[in-house]
Amino acid sequence: MGRQLVIKMTQETYLTGITTTGTPHIGNYVGAIRPSVASSRDENRKNFYFLADYHSLAKAEDPDRIHRSGLEVAATWLACGLDTENAFFYRQSDIPEIMELTWILNSVTAKGLMNRAHSYKSQVQINEIGGSKDPDKGVVMALYNYPILMAADILMFKATKVPVGRDQKQHMEMTRDIAQRFNHRYGDILVIPDAEIDKNTAVLGGLDGRKMSKSYNNIIPLFADEKRLRKLVMKIKTNSLEPGTPKDTDGSTLFEIYKAFATDTEIQTIEERYADGIGWGEMKHVLFDYINDHIKPARDEYNRLIADPAVVEQELLQGAERARELSVPYIEEIRRAVGIRKLSPM
Ligand code: TRP
Repeated sequence: MGRQLVIKMTQETYLTGITTTGTPHIGNYVGAIRPSVASSRDENRKNFYFLADYHSLAKAEDPDRIHRSGLEVAATWLACGLDTENAFFYRQSDIPEIMELTWILNSVTAKGLMNRAHSYKSQVQINEIGGSKDPDKGVVMALYNYPILMAADILMFKATKVPVGRDQKQHMEMTRDIAQRFNHRYGDILVIPDAEIDKNTAVLGGLDGRKMSKSYNNIIPLFADEKRLRKLVMKIKTNSLEPGTPKDTDGSTLFEIYKAFATDTEIQTIEERYADGIGWGEMKHVLFDYINDHIKPARDEYNRLIADPAVVEQELLQGAERARELSVPYIEEIRRAVGIRKLSPM
């Protein structure tokens, strides 16, 4: 009797969220949006992409800004070509089961674990440096519990791979820790996810050369109009080498951004031009033209979507409806496991 070969197809489930606190910039595009769009088009993967709007409350943002940011982030994803047939695309706040799971996870999360969270500790450090008597000054519970909500986002949909930036590594370790404690106590119910921190994904520098980030106020919005985009590119910091002097591509923010968009042969050409001493003014024009051409079709689509939020809303509601087909029965199973269930069969 021939041995039967069992081929087990293990399908990875990718999930990631973007906090709705700002306007998407080219660093977000290269680091998170572009890879998730590519993933959404891969039929061998299950994909979940969502707006982490409840997370945005941890930072005491202006309500109008949070609301607007939700539209901008969603429209960006759609304009960049997210495949919402193959991927679940939704807003965290439309999935009430995530909130229920958050509370349940609170019950297995050690307070000591949360004490160690970088996001919380950095606020305490700011207070200490500032000489405040209260180390917890300005710390709301939403900041303190932020990692638990993130764990619920991930565990709710049995994600196996979570593509995140290096800054989220600790949150991922906490998610695994929380899930393991839950399973230890209640049985094998939650799926333990892996972080996927891609070393090849570029972390772009901003206008001042530091990492492009809203908190440094050095961003280039992905869909800035042409005039503004040109103005911002012209502001990117360079050294003071004259045209004609050979230049290093290493440490050049202009080059780094160009590289994140261009093809290998195009990059090679620019490397040669650096060696030949391209002037910074010239390089800024090259970069502007390149990005502008590259994003123009998506920018037109983005502007159409921003002008018609009902289309975006419709996509999100449909996505939530599909996602809840999974979250509703799963939370039922989780609730049952922890003892929250009906007193008698109905
Ligand atoms: N904390 C993430 C960030 O700031 C955003 C986020 C919220 C997230 N929930 C998530 C990322 C779940 C991955 C998975 O970037």
